[in-house]
Amino acid sequence: MIEAEFWDYDSAEEMASAVAGDVGFIIESALDARGNAMLALPGGTTPGPIYSKLVKADLNWKKVTIIPGDERLVPMDNELSNVRALAKVFLPAGARVIPVTGDIKDHKLAGNSADARLQDLPWPPDLVWLGMGEDGHTASIFAGPDLPDALDAPKARRMVGVMPDPLPTEAPVARVTLTRAAILSARTLLIVIKGQQKRDMLEQAIEDGQSSKLPIGRVLAECDQPIDIHWCP
Ligand code: 6PG
Repeated sequence: MIEAEFWDYDSAEEMASAVAGDVGFIIESALDARGNAMLALPGGTTPGPIYSKLVKADLNWKKVTIIPGDERLVPMDNELSNVRALAKVFLPAGARVIPVTGDIKDHKLAGNSADARLQDLPWPPDLVWLGMGEDGHTASIFAGPDLPDALDAPKARRMVGVMPDPLPTEAPVARVTLTRAAILSARTLLIVIKGQQKRDMLEQAIEDGQSSKLPIGRVLAECDQPIDIHWCP
């Protein structure tokens, strides 16, 4: 059974301060221990206000490398691009924000290329931060024909390409995503979600474990480290 601790907040603002504080601490500890830090961060709407607080932390950002934990296959100047959102916030502070995709349209090839890029980075990441969609996806591990690739890729594989089915309405495009093994290899894992519906869904997914029908349940079922889940209504 996965060891998950829920941290509840009354408001998004309160949650943003707490999570920014925790992530700042994770970065600082990595810098102290190894002289650099590597984070895989999510897209979506929830993290924006938290990133804005985090980037104000007095840290040696030049030693911090940030990758998107998943990316939508759109040009980098498209507003759906996750690395674009990360670069906007963290590049001005001096962090190294690394794109994982280029112009490749085919999602399988894009997945191979993203994996090759990540093989050049120091591994494991100090943090993989996950969100969750209303359909129970996490990172870009979605229901669909490529779900087994993302869940059961060999341990050394870091990213794969996926075509969600059905396509999510908020960004109906193919993706690349960290694999389950890559997510679970992180030194620290945290989840940040908003809303009662997601809370209920996630609690159920954790309870169902391996038999969960939701991608996030299947990912967490193999997690053997404690995980903090931050939540606000
Ligand atoms: C993405 C994500 C995705 C996201 C969830 C939650 O790029 O689509 O990384 O996994 O975290 O869909 O998104 P919200 O924060 O908008 O609810």
